[in-house]
Amino acid sequence: MHFKKIFGILRCCQVSARHQTIEFIIIMKKCFLIACCLGSAMFLYSCGGGGTKESTSETEDTTATNEVNEIGATGDAVDISKPSDSKGVGPVKDYEVKPFNADLAAKGEMLFTSKCAVCHRLDTKLIGPPLQGVTERRTPEWIMNMALNPMEMQKSDPVAKALLDEYKTPMTDLGLTQEEAEAIYEYFRQVDGAK
Ligand code: HEC
Repeated sequence: MHFKKIFGILRCCQVSARHQTIEFIIIMKKCFLIACCLGSAMFLYSCGGGGTKESTSETEDTTATNEVNEIGATGDAVDISKPSDSKGVGPVKDYEVKPFNADLAAKGEMLFTSKCAVCHRLDTKLIGPPLQGVTERRTPEWIMNMALNPMEMQKSDPVAKALLDEYKTPMTDLGLTQEEAEAIYEYFRQVDGAK
């Protein structure tokens, strides 16, 4: 009698346990279906309207970190934030980069502060572009020609033209000598990590 009762209860449990497992599987299946639906909905959303949103926020990010970026991205032939191997136009045709010269760089820093800092900062845009990293995106010849011969550069060098398009104000000719331009270039090298 006792035994029968226990057996009965056990069977009952077994049945309900099996029932629960089946129910559990059904619930899991439902969850999976819902997850699939959500997943594909999100996928479609990101491919459609959401995608454009994402890419604009990406462009915003890059322009925030690198303000020089704007023009090239809008279809101009020259992207001014990208390195260029142009040597520019002017008196400096071929410049052989020598080992870093700290004295020359110190002279260059003084010249930069007195002649260029009116319009340039190293790390932010002022009237002209920030000049940190300039030795990485331009050749030595180009940098010196820009300092010595900005008018012609703005007229006929594609990078300088694109820069003028972006910054609107033309860079002025400061009447530097070639040695002074070289000193400023040496200072830019120091800013960019030369020792
Ligand atoms: C009157 C303001 C002004 C002065 C002064 C000036 N610049 Fe500029 N500079 C600019 C502007 C604006 C640009 C962007 C190109 C343009 O609009 O012509 C520029 C661009 C440059 C570039 C190119 C930067 C890049 O991202 O490729 C270099 C290099 C440069 N200047 C160096 C100098 C040096 C060196 C001096 C000092 C001898 C100097 N500039 C003085 C306004 C100035």
